[in-house]
Amino acid sequence: MYLVTLDSETDFDGWRKAARAFALHHVAPADVVWHVQGQTKDQMPPGLSETPSLPPIETESTFTVPANFIELARIAILHREGERFALLYRLLWRLKADHDLLVTMSDPDVAQATAMAGSVQRDAQRMRDLVRFREIGREQKAHYAAWFEPEHHIVAFAAPFFARRFADMPWSILTPDVCAHWNGHAISFTPGISRTEWPAPGRLEETWRRHFQPGRLTTTDAPVKRRRNLQDASVLGSILGPLLADAERWTGGRISPRPEAIMGHKAAANDLEALREEAAHCRACPLYKDATQTVFGEGPKDATIMLVGEQPGDKEDLAGHPFVGPAGQMLDRALEEAGVDRKKVYVTNAVKHFKFVPRGKIRLHQKPATPEIKACRPWYEREVAAIQPELIVAMGATAAQSVFGKITPIGKTRGRLIDLPDGRKALVTVHPSYLLRLPDPEAKVLEYQRFVEDLKIAASLQRKSARAA
Ligand code: URA
Repeated sequence: MYLVTLDSETDFDGWRKAARAFALHHVAPADVVWHVQGQTKDQMPPGLSETPSLPPIETESTFTVPANFIELARIAILHREGERFALLYRLLWRLKADHDLLVTMSDPDVAQATAMAGSVQRDAQRMRDLVRFREIGREQKAHYAAWFEPEHHIVAFAAPFFARRFADMPWSILTPDVCAHWNGHAISFTPGISRTEWPAPGRLEETWRRHFQPGRLTTTDAPVKRRRNLQDASVLGSILGPLLADAERWTGGRISPRPEAIMGHKAAANDLEALREEAAHCRACPLYKDATQTVFGEGPKDATIMLVGEQPGDKEDLAGHPFVGPAGQMLDRALEEAGVDRKKVYVTNAVKHFKFVPRGKIRLHQKPATPEIKACRPWYEREVAAIQPELIVAMGATAAQSVFGKITPIGKTRGRLIDLPDGRKALVTVHPSYLLRLPDPEAKVLEYQRFVEDLKIAASLQRKSARAA
C-alpha cells in the first residue's frame, strides 16, 4: 500500500506526478491512498504513515492519455469530495488500457469525474456572479474587499477572472479556504478566514483590517506555488473561457468596473447588442483588413441551440448576416427537414471575418488558420456566455476547433452528444459547404441525409427543452 501526501487540496502537479509514477510502475488504484498535507491523523487510514518508496522510473517508460483527460482532471481535482484523487487515478489507470474510455459517459468513473468538473465549473460561475466588492480602508489607499464561501476549491482557479475584470483596482476576496489578493500586478494568496470569524454583513472592513492591515499583505512560498497552478488554470481557455467571457456588470455599490480590462473588450459580455457593436471594430487578427465587415452571430437571446459555422462567405460578408448564401440555404433546408426551428436557433461562426483571395472578379474562400480561429474565439465564448445555450452544434472542423478549444477530428466525434466541461452539450457534424462541394450526386444525397440525421439530435433537444419550459 502506498500513501501519497499532496501539498494542498489543489495540488494538481503533485497528483499528476505521483499518478504517472504509479501508473508506470503498474501500481493498482486499490493500492494507493491519497491524502493532503495537514490532514489530521483521524482522516488518514491507520498504519499508513510509513510507506515504501517507488523504484526509479526507467526513462524510456512512458504512456499517453488524451489531452481532455488532463483538462478534466485539472478541474475535477478542485472538487471538495475527498475521493477525487483516487477516482482520477483510477481513470488514468483505466485509460492506459482503454484510450477512448472518456467517451463512454455511461461508465460510472467517467460520469462521476465529469459531474465533478461540471460542479466545479458551476461553482466558479457562482463566485463570478456573487462576489461583490466593497470599498474599504479609504483613509489609506483605496482597497476593495469581498467575501465568498465557495463550495469547492476554486479560489485560485477563479481569481484570474477578477484580476482581469478589475485590473486597475486592488482587491481581496476572503474565503474560508484561502484569501486571494490582487495588487494591480500579481495575485497572491493567504490562508482562509475561519468560519467563526466570518464577516457579518457590514463588518467586512473590520475583518479585513484584522487580517490584512494595508501594507501587511505578504506572500509566502505556498502562494507562489499556488500561483503556478493558477497560471495553469488560466490557460484552460475552453473551460475558464466561458467564465471569463460571461462578464456582466456586477458591482458592489459605487465601484464602476472597467470591463475593458478584460481582453481589451469594452462591453458587458452578456449584452449581445453591445458585443456585436464591439466586434464590429475587432482588430484581433488581420482578416478585418480585407473583409467588408464583421459578421456577428444572430438569433434569439434565449436560444437553447447555438449553431457554429466556419466563417462568413462572400454573400455573408456583403450582407453582414451569417448563413445567408448557398451554404445557408442548404442549412435552412436541412434544419427544416430535421425539425429544428431556425428562428429559435442562434447562428454564428467561429471566425467573424471573411477570409479570401481575389481571383479576378471572384473572392475565393480560404480556410481560416489556427491563429485566426484563436483570435476570434473570445467572441464565440462571449456569445456562449450571453446566450447560455444547452447545445452547441459545431459544423465542420473550424467550428469544432473553436467549440472544443483544440483541433478536433470530425470523423471521431460526429453525430453524438458530447459533454463540454462547462456542462453544456456539443454536437459535431459536417459543414453544409462540404455537402455543396461533393462532386458525386449519390454521395451528396447520402451525406445530406446524414447531416439531417445529426440535426435531428438537435431537434429532439429543442423539443424537450420547449416541453420543459
Ligand atoms: N459558411 C459559414 O461557415 N458561415 C456562413 O455564415 C456562411 C458560410
